Amino acid sequence: MKNPYYPIDTVVEDIITETPTIKTFCLKPVRPIEFRAGQFMQLTVPGVGEAPFTPSSDPNVSERMEITILKTGKITDALHDLKPGAAVGLRGPFGKGYPLDRLVGKEVLVVGGGVGLAPLRALIYALFDDPSRYERISIKYGARCPEELCFRRQYDEWSRIAPNVDLTVTIDVPAPAWDGRVGLVTTLLDDLDINLDESYALSCGPEIMLKFVTLKLLEVGYKPPQIYLSMNRKMSCGMGKCGRCNVGHYYLCVDGPDMCYDKIKHVPNVFG
Ligand SMILES: Cc1cc2nc3c(=O)[nH]c(=O)nc-3n(C[C@H](O)[C@H](O)[C@H](O)COP(=O)(O)OP(=O)(O)OC[C@H]3O[C@@H](n4cnc5c(N)ncnc54)[C@H](O)[C@@H]3O)c2cc1C
Ligand code: FES
Repeated sequence: MKNPYYPIDTVVEDIITETPTIKTFCLKPVRPIEFRAGQFMQLTVPGVGEAPFTPSSDPNVSERMEITILKTGKITDALHDLKPGAAVGLRGPFGKGYPLDRLVGKEVLVVGGGVGLAPLRALIYALFDDPSRYERISIKYGARCPEELCFRRQYDEWSRIAPNVDLTVTIDVPAPAWDGRVGLVTTLLDDLDINLDESYALSCGPEIMLKFVTLKLLEVGYKPPQIYLSMNRKMSCGMGKCGRCNVGHYYLCVDGPDMCYDKIKHVPNVFG
């Protein structure tokens, strides 16, 4: 039996700088790793430690995996200092992943903020596998400023992928040479042209963003069972053993990290 605590040896093949604080690590594990969009991995930097990250790459590809990481502390600082050729470890995948079957035939609203677009990119790839399975795929994304827009190199390609796909991007405050939308990502939800009865919304970003996105979605008419939130809280074992990640009686590492808001809406301080 495989030991779930033992990481799979992995080489960093390439590193793409997405923004001044976000890099995408292109990883080659010694054996393929199958995962579903929204499942997460524990990534080890030898001699430093381990932290949870959701792959940002296409779940149809198991020989290579991309993980997009914001530099924020000890482990992510060490990751950002790595060079191609470095050795890391991967454990997983863990968690349930996004409810893709439920989205078939629906209007899918994807709402991301900052590095939150990273886990959502795996979902976007999964949806783009056959966009005709969905009524519409609407992607709304916000970052603080143009320099902090993650995966900017791909927006044109995503917008053109199919007629039923649209992407709208906003930055928080005006910036020189920016002629796109300005305002928090919630402002993109003010003028939704969506059949709400036939829609699901899936969101990932900082907890404060998730809170205000949820409030806005409820205000415009979404019901709690139609809202899925990526609850990327602190985790340790990733396997429901340590009790580090509970929200109410759910363990996010096992029952999430993408949680239907209907299940957690009664939990005090659900947004931290
Ligand atoms: C399921 C899951 C998926 C994730 N996916 C991604 C991803 O795709 N890309 C990515 O960049 N990050 C992701 N994260 C967050 C990532 O795990 C943390 O940023 C990382 O653990 C920080 O480790 P550190 O040692 O660098 O920071 P630390 O030294 O531990 O902490 C530095 C700062 O970051 C804060 N922090 C630590 N963990 C988290 C967290 N989970 N959420 C928010 N703030 C945190 C701390 O409170 C502190 O302020 C994910 C987290 C979870 C639980
Ligand atoms: S991280 Fe250990 S129980 Fe969830």
